[in-house]
Amino acid sequence: MVKWDARKIIEDELNKQSIFKNRESLMPEYIPEALPHRDNELKLLASYFRHLIVNPGSMSQRVLIVGRVGTGKTTLMRTFATNLTSIARERGLSFDYIHVNCYRNRSLFSIVRDIALQLGLSVPHRGLSSKEIMDA
Ligand SMILES: Nc1ncnc2c1ncn2[C@@H]1O[C@H](COP(=O)(O)OP(=O)(O)OP(=O)(O)O)[C@@H](O)[C@H]1O
Ligand SMILES: [Mg+2]
Repeated sequence: MVKWDARKIIEDELNKQSIFKNRESLMPEYIPEALPHRDNELKLLASYFRHLIVNPGSMSQRVLIVGRVGTGKTTLMRTFATNLTSIARERGLSFDYIHVNCYRNRSLFSIVRDIALQLGLSVPHRGLSSKEIMDA
């Protein structure tokens, strides 16, 4: 009879080939290297947010992206924003991209606090108003 070997059982499991080619691609934060069929949408976003680069501080543009579930709205925006940020910084502009999930952050305070945290400010859980954080 073969001797029972706990170590071997564990090692066999560890050495097993994963069924995943790239597990990270299933994470919500994952951004594919290429976004097929999104050239026109990227162009549109660039034209809408042009003034941020060409004439910083001149106006406040809002864009609402709508589309069916999982069609790539978030990915498109993240790709656009990270690229725009690096372009702006290369041009010497102080530019930050903040992504707030309003499903998780369900109050003004929570949203403003998330923005502050992403900007590197330390904000207490309570004790400050939204306006105080905004001012900071
Ligand atoms: N142009 C594209 N080509 C192929 N895959 C894409 C493309 N854009 C996004 N994806 C992939 O499709 C999936 C869904 O993308 P994403 O989360 O951005 O969709 P969404 O529209 O924001 O979804 P939801 O409506 O749930 O917020 C992700 O795995 C993303 O990597
Ligand atoms: Mg989304």
